[in-house]
Amino acid sequence: MSATVSLQQLTDQLEQLEAQAAADIAAASSASELEDLRVGLLGKKGRLSGVLGAMGKLPGDERPLVGQRANVLKDQVQGLLSERLNAVKAAAMSERIAEETLDVTMPASYTPVGRRHPLISTIEEIVDIFSGLGYRVEEGPEIESDFYNFTALNIPPHHPARDMQDTFYLSERELLRTHTSPVQIRHLENNAPPVRIVAPGRVYRRDAVDATHSPVFHQVEVLAIDEGLDFSHLRGTVTSFLQQFFGDLPVRFRASYFPFTEPSAEVDVQWRGRWLEVMGCGMVDPAVLEGMGIDPERYSGFAAGLGVERFCMVRHGIDDIRRLFTSDLRFLEQF
Ligand code: DAH
Repeated sequence: MSATVSLQQLTDQLEQLEAQAAADIAAASSASELEDLRVGLLGKKGRLSGVLGAMGKLPGDERPLVGQRANVLKDQVQGLLSERLNAVKAAAMSERIAEETLDVTMPASYTPVGRRHPLISTIEEIVDIFSGLGYRVEEGPEIESDFYNFTALNIPPHHPARDMQDTFYLSERELLRTHTSPVQIRHLENNAPPVRIVAPGRVYRRDAVDATHSPVFHQVEVLAIDEGLDFSHLRGTVTSFLQQFFGDLPVRFRASYFPFTEPSAEVDVQWRGRWLEVMGCGMVDPAVLEGMGIDPERYSGFAAGLGVERFCMVRHGIDDIRRLFTSDLRFLEQF
């Protein structure tokens, strides 16, 4: 197959190739398209090689004319390819930058974040301090029997001390616990001394609601039973706890009365120039220990009951207990 080729034909082919290459390269919009074009035009089996192959059939003196032209074309095409490649890359880059631009004026999407109720965080803080002193956490039921809430705590039926705590009775024998002290009894029933526990929880009293009273509130009970405990241990523990919680507020102990402790005291802290009662405490009455089968000659102990709402209100400067129970988010979101 020896088709003849003329100089004119090859020159025309090169011209067409040039025009086509320029158009194709200008229309290419990606690096891979450009690479395909490069291979198709300048590759071993590309169109330029085809022309150069045919060149061998020309008379010797005509070959250089085509060869020179082809070399110029090759350089041209390479130039166009790399120019276009740069343009395509730059366009891709600015597109990415535009896509990833952060519009700082766009309104943020509001994700409400939950938080702990101030009463819960107060309980946690109180419990944490006692944990640090080696106390274990205990819990008891809110529906209690008359026995645990009163009798076992040295408050027999018809004892006037029952009137100190206005009780919600559910039946003859069942009631909503009026304090966390019954957890002392429940724990001592199942655990021999030495004992060190804290018992946080909800308690109930038939009180009318006002700025300082709520029919539902929270206490933390503290109980320690061991050999050789006396009032100085009680005083030291309570004082150290109060200092950790409140910092350096003045603290005072006042003699008081509770049926399950002897002697008993109430503890006040000075806050905003006034003495505020924050807890009751005392040495566990030997009658309570005996009732639990613990020998009061060998063991002694102290107990305390803290009003959580008071601690929370003093800590956060809250003036009305009702704010803690009305679930107003505008109030709660401050904590
Ligand atoms: N349970 C008492 C109350 O609610 C508070 C209390 C006083 C608890 C003295 C104690 C204590 O453990 O020793 O009024």
